[in-house]
Amino acid sequence: MLANTATCTVSGRHNLEERSMISKKMEAALNKQINAELYSAYLYLSMSSFFHSVNLAGFASWMRIQALEEMTHAEKFSEYLIERGGRVLLQSIDGPPTKWASPLAVFDEVYAHEQKVTALINKLMDLAIKENDHASRGMLQWFVDEQVEEEASADGIVQKLKLVGESGNGLFMMDRELSQRVFTNPGT
Ligand code: FEO
Repeated sequence: MLANTATCTVSGRHNLEERSMISKKMEAALNKQINAELYSAYLYLSMSSFFHSVNLAGFASWMRIQALEEMTHAEKFSEYLIERGGRVLLQSIDGPPTKWASPLAVFDEVYAHEQKVTALINKLMDLAIKENDHASRGMLQWFVDEQVEEEASADGIVQKLKLVGESGNGLFMMDRELSQRVFTNPGT
């Protein structure tokens, strides 16, 4: 692919050339995805705060780690964009919901949200294929695989919560189990 070049002037004295090895279309799409990953982090932090408010500290901790993972996703896209000579342009992040009817309602939303993210990643992959951008395809494949795990882990908790139903004891056990999760950077 031909490099996109543009010239800009800093303080009217130096001419800097912006070089990019990635198409403007892919650059814009990746910037949008960075925003989506940061929104995911916001959403999960909001869910974590909700769980604290209903005294489910283990659920809250699990969700905070989920938010940290989302930040590593945003970071992975940013690093890639920079490596390819693109420019990271941060946009404002929407405010997430703050209240849910039950732990099951929270995880139903996590699962639905991850399905949406999977669709966004698939669209990015479609664009990379269309543009014959092999490097972006390679990078995106990691996210395709990651989304399989993301959906499976959310669905696993949804199924457990359905089994637990109204049982306070079951919820207490799950809270203890979820508190065991430790943060590991999925990208390393
Ligand atoms: Fe970044 Fe949960 O997908």
